[in-house]
Amino acid sequence: MKQKWLGDAVFYEIYPQSFFDTNGDGIGDLDGITAKLDYIKDLGCNALWINPIYDSPFKDAGYDVRDYKKVAPRYGLNQDAYRLFGEAHKRGMHVLLDLVPGHTSEEHAWFKESQKASPNEYSDRYVWADHCFRIDQYPYVAGESERDGIYMLNFFKCQPALNYGFYRPTERWQKSMDDPACLKTREAMKDVMRFWLDRGCDGFRVDMADYLVKGEDEKKEGTSAIWKDVRAMLDQDYPEAVLVSEWSNPPFSTKAGFDCDFLLNNPHTGYSTLFRDYVNHEQLSGSQNINNSSLGGEDYSFFRKEGKGNIQAFLSDYLDKYENSKEYGYISFITGNHDTPRIRRTLDTHELKLAYAFLFTMPGVPFLYYGDEIGMRYLNIPTKEGGYGRTGSRTPMQWNQEKNMGFSTGCKEDLYLPQDSAPDAPDVASQMADPNSLWNTLKEILALRHSEKDLQADGSFQVVYAEENQYPFVYRRGNLLLGVNPKAEKTSIPCNYLGEMLYQIGETTLSDGTLRMDAQSFFCLKIQ
Ligand code: GLC
Ligand code: CA
Repeated sequence: MKQKWLGDAVFYEIYPQSFFDTNGDGIGDLDGITAKLDYIKDLGCNALWINPIYDSPFKDAGYDVRDYKKVAPRYGLNQDAYRLFGEAHKRGMHVLLDLVPGHTSEEHAWFKESQKASPNEYSDRYVWADHCFRIDQYPYVAGESERDGIYMLNFFKCQPALNYGFYRPTERWQKSMDDPACLKTREAMKDVMRFWLDRGCDGFRVDMADYLVKGEDEKKEGTSAIWKDVRAMLDQDYPEAVLVSEWSNPPFSTKAGFDCDFLLNNPHTGYSTLFRDYVNHEQLSGSQNINNSSLGGEDYSFFRKEGKGNIQAFLSDYLDKYENSKEYGYISFITGNHDTPRIRRTLDTHELKLAYAFLFTMPGVPFLYYGDEIGMRYLNIPTKEGGYGRTGSRTPMQWNQEKNMGFSTGCKEDLYLPQDSAPDAPDVASQMADPNSLWNTLKEILALRHSEKDLQADGSFQVVYAEENQYPFVYRRGNLLLGVNPKAEKTSIPCNYLGEMLYQIGETTLSDGTLRMDAQSFFCLKIQ
């Protein structure tokens, strides 16, 4: 599905606890997001994805939901969320919440019922196996419930898996997808979606979207069938609602009904070779490779000025995904997210300008992670709320040079997480005042995207120059020619296009059939 309003959408991801605190308790809140809508709009983002805001024991920073229909008190009241939707809409902005359909918190009322020995409505809401000494591909918890049996986990120990059934049940206790209990789970999640859509939310980013139905299902046909069913409900009752998947396989996800799918920083996507290619060259563990505390080794990221990258490593993966999904939905490039090392960890300010020039001129629907507009650093800090290595990407926003960098009027010790204490820690106010800052450069790039339809979600995309281990990378979007040379060396290639330069970082010239690019430069040319 490709919702019309996505055509010119640029998303801003907000980690609510770290964005802006309006009551001085040290934790960001919903009113803080509302207060900053004009800021986000001014930068050039017109849509939000907000990480989970629901009531939770916060053992996985809110991805362990205790009550899907109640805003966590630390963020405010439900009314504050409704007001946020309304204020966003007044500004022509859209808001996606985070839907966590695969698991709940172990403290959710459904799970507490499910643990009881006496059979009840929720007995099969979760995946329970009836014998204790199982070893297979899934983690289970044994010995915690009054009920005789063990339950499957989706992620952490605090996150029991909701039961959407098995694609092909092989054991007596495994339910099929169309078992009444599994259909009830599905309806319960639709009910959660309706609850928020009825109150003004515009759709959802869907957590672990590829992981609902269990059992062998290589093509994810079971899970896809569920999303198609959800999409049918939306088409009928909420025709403008948007679904964005955490799946990282656009040909599958877009056919299942998602409007957008992220390319994530894991070894299966060429995406990681662009900005964080230490990942592919170090033996790391963890789903999104963030468990390493120091980098070390060589960095092969295409956007590093050393110029050791290989654009083909990205394209060989991307082009296939793009061609096989563009008819159905969009690919979403991210600057980063709450699970991924900050992009500033590997790229310096100038490298970031070029990375953003590329990222926000590609097809699909891009996402900016809060703080990446000023190049906030990844901090090596102790874990909080199940963050572990991800914690360093989740620190409070740096608004200005005032107390707590403008994030909160509370005590420093009460802040959700410590802030960057470096003397040159970036902040929004300083960068807004500096015409050459990353913030202002990004603002120009986003303005360019909004003014040129060819640069937006549906504009066509073709590769013009992309050679193995060579720089630059030159591509076409509709009637525009774009090129990026992240390497600290000038470069030239044969090129017969001529036209009017719309935007440049560094200098590029076109004459005598040759395109000459400065070291570390970018251009966007309107072809004549
Ligand atoms: C997703 C979220 C991550 C969370 C996990 C379990 O990957 O992005 O933050 O811990 O799912 O819900
Ligand atoms: Ca607060």
